[in-house]
Amino acid sequence: MRAAYVGEPSTADPAGAVLVGDVPAPVAPDGWVEAEVRAGALNMHDVFTLRGIAKPAGDGPHVIGSDAAVVHNGQAFVVYPVLPADNAAGRTVTHATLLPDAGHGMLAERVVVPHAHLVPKPAGLSWEEAACLPTAWLTAWRMLFTKAQAGPGKLVLVQGAGGGVATAATALAVAAGATVVVTSRSAEKRERSLALGASAALESGARLPQLADIVVETVGPATFEHSMLSTRAGGTIVVCGGSTGFTAPLHLARLFAREVTVSGSTMGTLEEFRDLVAFVDGHGIRPAVDSTADLADAGRQVGRMLAGDAFGKLCVRVS
Ligand SMILES: NC(=O)c1ccc[n+]([C@@H]2O[C@H](COP(=O)([O-])OP(=O)(O)OC[C@H]3O[C@@H](n4cnc5c(N)ncnc54)[C@H](OP(=O)(O)O)[C@@H]3O)[C@@H](O)[C@H]2O)c1
Repeated sequence: MRAAYVGEPSTADPAGAVLVGDVPAPVAPDGWVEAEVRAGALNMHDVFTLRGIAKPAGDGPHVIGSDAAVVHNGQAFVVYPVLPADNAAGRTVTHATLLPDAGHGMLAERVVVPHAHLVPKPAGLSWEEAACLPTAWLTAWRMLFTKAQAGPGKLVLVQGAGGGVATAATALAVAAGATVVVTSRSAEKRERSLALGASAALESGARLPQLADIVVETVGPATFEHSMLSTRAGGTIVVCGGSTGFTAPLHLARLFAREVTVSGSTMGTLEEFRDLVAFVDGHGIRPAVDSTADLADAGRQVGRMLAGDAFGKLCVRVS
């Protein structure tokens, strides 16, 4: 079967490390089922794998991709992409390892997944729109609604508006009744965020007219100081990653004097994923897809992600 997989990991050229070709079909362990992948989406985690930072289990070839919309027994599903794992302290956590890290990447014609991870695909979504939900959208969901209480009366600041997690956070927070302000380096992305329902779209680093209750922080050092300056007393900054790096200055006096909470967040539970899918379906939300390429061009999509020009998710049509 055809798949996109890691050739020689490369720090300098992760897009060039993507190979597309035949790999052995996966075998379903007990409790897992086979499914045909219709579409997938890419994430920074795939770049970490292609750079050799994230190391999948097994001998390979290591198929990339955490996100898939699939067909199983003639029915359409999206795949919850996280496997439980033991953390460093030996305590089982409910959302830890991504399927590709366990040797079960999703950018392949056929995949195997735990049966319980199949969640019915909303009929109103295209295959590629549905494929956006597992990683970026689940992450945004947990950031907004588990780690913070986004909803009516809340002002949510979304930094780096064009990102996969950021576009999800904007759309979800708007649908939940929050007021959303975004920042972006790009005038075009600011314009497109307004079309997603943001009330205001500012240049990165610009002063907010009013301090935010909740900040969705995915950018890291380039925006973190601005996030601290933009949070009201008692507000929450939720951090899930750092597109510009992982070390940022923290103004301690602002943190304690204003009693700001900085909260880390990673992916989400199966229950959160089901809630997300139902919410997207119920509100008729359509994930922002930057572009969709054929499986043969998966490496080009990785390159587009690294270029930083995309608005929304980079998708791949598989079959
Ligand atoms: N913890 C988790 O479970 C989890 C899950 C998903 C993602 N993540 C992490 O979250 C981060 C974002 O992921 P993503 O998928 O949303 O990435 P993405 O789609 O590549 O988006 C990154 C965004 O960051 C902004 N950005 C990049 N460079 C910037 C700069 N110099 N100044 C200001 N903004 C800049 C860009 O916004 P503008 O172009 O609009 O300015 C861009 O749209 C990554 O670090 C990823 O690894 C973590």
